[in-house]
Amino acid sequence: MTAKEVTTDFLVIGSGLAGLSFSLKAIGAGSIALVTKQDIAESSSRYAQGGIAAVTSRDDSFSEHIQDTIRAGDGLCRREIVELVVNSAPDRIRDLIDLGVEFSRRPENRKEYDLGREGGHSRRRVLHAADQTGAEIEKCLVEAVRADKRIAVFEDHIAVNLITTPDPADRGRSRCRGAYVLDRKANRVKTFLARTTILAAGGAAKVYLYTSNPDTAAGDGMAMAYRAGARIANMEFMQFHPTCLFHPQAKSFLISEAVRGEGGVLKTGDGRLFMAGYHPMKDLAPRDIVARAIDAEMKKSGADHVFLDISHRPAAFIRRRFPHICLRCREFGIDITRSPIPVVPAAHYSCGGVRTDSRGRTSIPGLLAIGEVAHTGLHGANRLASNSLLEALVFADRAAGLVREESAPPRSLPRVPPWRIGRAVDASEAVMVAHNWDEIRRLMWNYVGIVRSDKRLARAERRLRNLRKEIDEYYWNFIITADLIELRNLATVASLIVRSARRRKESRGLHYSLDYPKKDDRRFRKDTVLWKK
Ligand code: SIN
Repeated sequence: MTAKEVTTDFLVIGSGLAGLSFSLKAIGAGSIALVTKQDIAESSSRYAQGGIAAVTSRDDSFSEHIQDTIRAGDGLCRREIVELVVNSAPDRIRDLIDLGVEFSRRPENRKEYDLGREGGHSRRRVLHAADQTGAEIEKCLVEAVRADKRIAVFEDHIAVNLITTPDPADRGRSRCRGAYVLDRKANRVKTFLARTTILAAGGAAKVYLYTSNPDTAAGDGMAMAYRAGARIANMEFMQFHPTCLFHPQAKSFLISEAVRGEGGVLKTGDGRLFMAGYHPMKDLAPRDIVARAIDAEMKKSGADHVFLDISHRPAAFIRRRFPHICLRCREFGIDITRSPIPVVPAAHYSCGGVRTDSRGRTSIPGLLAIGEVAHTGLHGANRLASNSLLEALVFADRAAGLVREESAPPRSLPRVPPWRIGRAVDASEAVMVAHNWDEIRRLMWNYVGIVRSDKRLARAERRLRNLRKEIDEYYWNFIITADLIELRNLATVASLIVRSARRRKESRGLHYSLDYPKKDDRRFRKDTVLWKK
């Protein structure tokens, strides 16, 4: 029988790049418990294809990477954070190499790394491991974490709620003390008490019907932090990746932006190249612009997809540079060395999240947030490609530095009541979970997608209000399951996105409104911040 209460110095929630690398860096600063809702290797990081942007070549400069990031962010990046992240990049890349991560090298000079280019970048600066960079990094981090017995890993454990109590040493201000966590195998809720809780629970793209993300990206961290009273910023900026494979069985498989970086071009069904009409950088324009251009072309022609064509490059090059994409497309009957790939945009990355400072501190003492769950100010209104793994690495490092400095003999943790099951009885109405789940994701896709309007947002808000009421009733009346926890989180995050989008009465970065098609710097050059009063 496993203990119902676990006491630890650091509770890490999530096993993507941020959670794993924080855990490794915090070794020695105290005891570490890492909870992850499935297998430790499952996370969005694992599916990252493109790579990590970092200035490593003599032709490049920090100032250009900073400028590219700020230009993509469309007026909302925090300059000091951009500088911090870009300047730290080479050191964080070195950490990964020391851990055994093998980035691709140039075939003509094996001493040099092969640098990829992606949308919005003025230089080649993306380190990659062919087209499976996330998988290569996760493999090395997972091996290192598994090998170190000082990190206690709890797989199949999904966090339910953060635990907060008043802190008498801080004038009664609410402090995070850990989390209630559902052990999915034992089917019971355990209490994890921690000196510091580190949210590394990833993003929320699963709130949309079509997403490049794995099923785990349900916005759990953002929803829990919001319920606990944390400040949540810029949720309206959901990034849609312009090119996911259009195929009924492909589950929005990503076709990396690096394909366009290597010369791939977007075209309509009748072979017309269209990006020159939308941006001077054509197919390598920032992602928000490319996704909107595809959406506009699809609406204009009534087609349900466009095409991405790299077949003009030598077949041997395509196979070497994109082995995974070649293989997956071939499984669906597409030979990308000979024919164009049918593609559509899909929800990909949450630029908003739990607001933090430059060391991962949230507005709740005792709670840090790192990785996609966080809003640090790096991405502004639109993330520059391949800046997200970098952000996760830099903030994991900074948060670990912080807990090391704060490292102190553990203060006694307060007693907290066990999770209350209340009037719960077994849920047999799984159909309600499935129905509401589908409804939320569909309404977000239809009403809160790439192009928005006041009317659609108002409709989404009304519908979500009713759904949330229904879900809450269900939630407190039945024994909780992982599906129910995720459904409740999805509903919360969907509402946060809609509320933020309704406040921003302009178009900027990833938020485009038909009613306010212009940017309004005077009124809206600021973050949208929400919290539970
Ligand atoms: C891609 O490979 O296109 C994804 C990279 C990213 O999201 O930064």
